[in-house]
Amino acid sequence: MNNTETDTNNLALSPITVPKLLAKKGKEKIAALTAYDYTFARLLDATGIDFILVGDSLSSVIQGHPSTIPVTLDEMIYHCKCVSRGVEQALVVGDLPFMTYQISPEQALQSAGRLIKEGGVSAVKLEGGILMEKTIERIVNIDIPVMGHVGLTPQSYHRMGGHRIQGKKSGNIVGSKERVLEDAKAVERAGAFAIVLEGIPSKLAKEITDTISIPTIGIGAGLDCDGQILVTHDMLGLNSDKVPSFVTEYLNLNKDISKSINSYMKDTKKEEKLKIKAA
Ligand code: KIV
Repeated sequence: MNNTETDTNNLALSPITVPKLLAKKGKEKIAALTAYDYTFARLLDATGIDFILVGDSLSSVIQGHPSTIPVTLDEMIYHCKCVSRGVEQALVVGDLPFMTYQISPEQALQSAGRLIKEGGVSAVKLEGGILMEKTIERIVNIDIPVMGHVGLTPQSYHRMGGHRIQGKKSGNIVGSKERVLEDAKAVERAGAFAIVLEGIPSKLAKEITDTISIPTIGIGAGLDCDGQILVTHDMLGLNSDKVPSFVTEYLNLNKDISKSINSYMKDTKKEEKLKIKAA
């Protein structure tokens, strides 16, 4: 049996679980991407990616809103179902949307339960640190794994005045570097199994990564995190006009898709016989 066969067999036999992801800290970098539908979920899963996030970024990427605020829990559940059906190997994490967990730990527990039970995901993600400590604890205590998210938290769009880098200033104020560090510690204390660090200086991301025992997953937070996540549509160049500066576009699908569609239109309009086939 060659190495490729062994790897493929291992992939098929060993889906990524929460304890396995946690155990990667300090041993192996974690690679993650977002997906919102069955087709992308299958594509991503076949690569052996560690986890797939059904992010509330779908509010912008799929629904066309300027922020993540409008997407509803029912809509998130629908997309979680589509993604879960396409995944055999990766850990699937579902985002709790705005105002489905901030009201009380009980509300959060009910929303998390629906993402797990109806959406078919294995873990949930929510934004916030110190203020969400009790909420995370409540969810974790009934064995729903929680991923935290601190720094640039997109659901705080109106407070931040847009998607703004956090952790640059010092002091006891919201968004300061001391506060982001305390937020990350609170998420760890509450029992989360991993934490997204978004839009913070790389030095602060390194300090958090060195301080807490759970894996840190960076997005716009430099290279010293335990793993990285990107919005798939951004890294594939599907949204080139709206991509944040920290994103590396590994492809320019926008251009390739337009080119293909133009060729198809040309073939159709010219009644080009070579490419348009009969059934
Ligand atoms: O919603 C999302 O896609 C996210 C990631 C970018 C971390 O929260």
